[in-house]
Amino acid sequence: MKFPVLTVTWSCRAFRRFQQRRVLLAEQRLWRSALICRSSSHLCRDYRSFYITTPIFYVNASPHLGHLYSAVIADCLHRWKLLQGFDSRFATGTDEHGLKIQQAAEAAGKDPLTFSTEVSERFKNLFSSCNISFTDYIRTTEQRHRRAVEHFWSVLWNKGLIYKGSYEGWYSTQDESFLTPSQVGDALDPSGKAVKVSLESGHKVEWMKEENYMFRLSAFRSRLHDWLVENPGAVQPERFQLAVLQWLQEELPDLSVSRQRSRLQWGVPVPGDPEQTVYVWLDALVNYLTVAGYPDGHEQWWRVAHHVIGKDILKFHAVYWPAFLLGAGLPLPRAIHVHSHWTVGGRKMSKSLGNVVDPFEHSRMFTNDGIRYFLLRQGVPDSDCDYTPDKVRKLLNAELADSLGGLLNRCTAPALNPAQVYPAFCCQAFSGDGRGRAAAEDHRMVAAVRSLPTVVEKHYESMHVYKALEAISACVRQTNGFVQRHAPWKLDRRDAKDRRWSDTIVHVSLECLRIYGTLLQPVVPEMSDRLLTRLGVRAHERSWKDLDFLQRYDGTDCPFEGRPLGSDSGLLFSRLESPNADKRNPKKSKKPAHLK
Ligand code: MSP
Repeated sequence: MKFPVLTVTWSCRAFRRFQQRRVLLAEQRLWRSALICRSSSHLCRDYRSFYITTPIFYVNASPHLGHLYSAVIADCLHRWKLLQGFDSRFATGTDEHGLKIQQAAEAAGKDPLTFSTEVSERFKNLFSSCNISFTDYIRTTEQRHRRAVEHFWSVLWNKGLIYKGSYEGWYSTQDESFLTPSQVGDALDPSGKAVKVSLESGHKVEWMKEENYMFRLSAFRSRLHDWLVENPGAVQPERFQLAVLQWLQEELPDLSVSRQRSRLQWGVPVPGDPEQTVYVWLDALVNYLTVAGYPDGHEQWWRVAHHVIGKDILKFHAVYWPAFLLGAGLPLPRAIHVHSHWTVGGRKMSKSLGNVVDPFEHSRMFTNDGIRYFLLRQGVPDSDCDYTPDKVRKLLNAELADSLGGLLNRCTAPALNPAQVYPAFCCQAFSGDGRGRAAAEDHRMVAAVRSLPTVVEKHYESMHVYKALEAISACVRQTNGFVQRHAPWKLDRRDAKDRRWSDTIVHVSLECLRIYGTLLQPVVPEMSDRLLTRLGVRAHERSWKDLDFLQRYDGTDCPFEGRPLGSDSGLLFSRLESPNADKRNPKKSKKPAHLK
C-alpha cells in the first residue's frame, strides 16, 4: 500500500528552511563522495581496487580465537570496501613449511603434507563457518606458490642481494626467528632446567651454527627509514610505526634466508642448491605476491595491497618484507594494519596454561555474528584485551539483543505498525519550527544519524572498528530514547493527528535502523541481512550510495515510504543466558529480549 504524501502549503520560512536543507543534503552527498576518493587516496586516481590479506596461519596446531580475530578484521575491511563499491580481493590461508611444522607432523606420526592438509582444512572450515569471505585461500605447499618463491629468490640472487655465508646465533623454532644476544634471556623450563628464551615471545631458543645463504638486509636500513618517515600511515596504529622506526635506529644485521637441508627438509629447496631450504619466513611472506599472480600480471593487485597482522609478527612484515620487496624492485604494501592480542584471565593464550579459546565452540555458543561483533567491538588495535565469556554475553545482550533488536521489535510490532509497512513521514508533525511534535533532542538525533556514515567511515578506514561500533551503538541508544520519549504505543491510532505522528515516529526509527543495518554489514553480515530484509530493503539498496537518511525530512521522496515490510524471521538476536542463570534466578533468565 502506498501512503499518500501530504500536500503542504509552504510558508516563506518553511520554504527557506526546505531549500537550506536541500543544499545541506547536496553538500553532504558531495562530501561523502569526496571522502571515498580521499580515504582511498591513490586508489581513486587509478582504479577502485583493494587487496587485503591476513597472515597465513601455522598448521602446527588447531585454530584459536586469536587466529579468528586476524581473519575477522581483514574480512571486515574487505566487506567495507565492497560496500563502498570497490573491487576487493581478500586472501587468507596456511603457512605449512618449516621446522616447526616438520616437528609437529613427526610428533603426530604423519607425513608433513597429510598433517598440513588436515589442519589447513580445519582453518578453512572455521573461516567458512564464521563468514570469512576470502576470495583466495593459499597454502604454501601449492605449486603456484613454489613457483613464486623460486622466482622471487632468483630475482634477489641475480641482483647480488643474496650471498653464501655462515650464520652463528640464536634461533627460536616456535617463532621461526633468528635472535640477537640482546633479545635472549634466561628462564627455567617446566622440568626446572635452565634454558635460554626469546625475551619477546618467551619461547625457547637454541644456538645454531650453519653455512647458509644471507640476505643483505643491512643495505636497506636507510631506505626503510625513509619509507616510514615519508608514509606516516604505512604501519598503523602509529605506535607500531614508531616501534619500527626505533628498531631502525640500530644496525640491521644481514639475515639468514636458508637452512641446511639436513636440518630442514620440509620447505622449498633453494634454486640451484638443493642442499639448502628457503627460510620459512621468506617463503611465507611471498604468499601475498603469489595470490596477486606473481610473477605474471600481479601489478593490478599488488599496488593496492594491505596487510592485517598481529603485533608479534611486526618485524617480519615491517622490516624484512619491505626490504625483500625493495630488493626485488616491487612496490611496498599500501598499509600494514597491526592488531594487539587477546589474553584470557589476563594471561597469554597457551596450551600449557590450558586457556586456549576454541573459536568453533565459542562461535557456536555466541553465534557467528555474536563472536564477530564482540571481537570487533572490544578489540582495540593499540592494546591487548581480555576475553571472558561473561563479558561477551553481557555486551551482546545489551547492544544486539536489547538495544538494536529491541528497537526493531518495537517498530515492526503489529501494535505500532498494523499495516506492516514503512509508514508515511509527516513533515508538519516533525517540523523544526516548534509547531510540530518533535523536540530539540529529536532533531539532534537526526543530525547524529545523518553524520554517522562519515564518522563510521573514518573509523573503518583506520581499522578502529570498535570506534565505529561505539558510534553506531550511541545512535541506536538515541533512537531508542526517541521512541521512549514519545511512547507511540500511548497514542490513539483512531485520531488522524495521533496516527500521523505515530507513523512518523516509526518512519524515523525505521530509517535509523536502515542506516545501522547498512553500516553494520561488514561486522555482522548475517544479522544485517535479516534486519534489512525485515525492513524491506532490497539487496541492491544496501551500499554506501544508499545511505541518504530520512529524505522526507529534507523534502525529497523516500523510496521506502509505503513499502511493505519483509517477512518476520523472529528475534534479531536472542538473549544469551548465562550457564548458571537458571539456578541463580529462574524467573529473570526466562525474560525475552523485547523492550517495552
Ligand atoms: N605463519 C605466521 C604468519 C606468516 S604471514 C606471512 C604466523 N602464524 S600464526 O598462526 O602464529 O599467527 C597468525 C596470526 O594470529 C598472527 O597475526 C598473530 O598475531 C595472530 N594471533 C596469534 N595469537 C593471538 C592472540 N592471542 N590474539 C590475537 N591474535 C593472535 O605468525
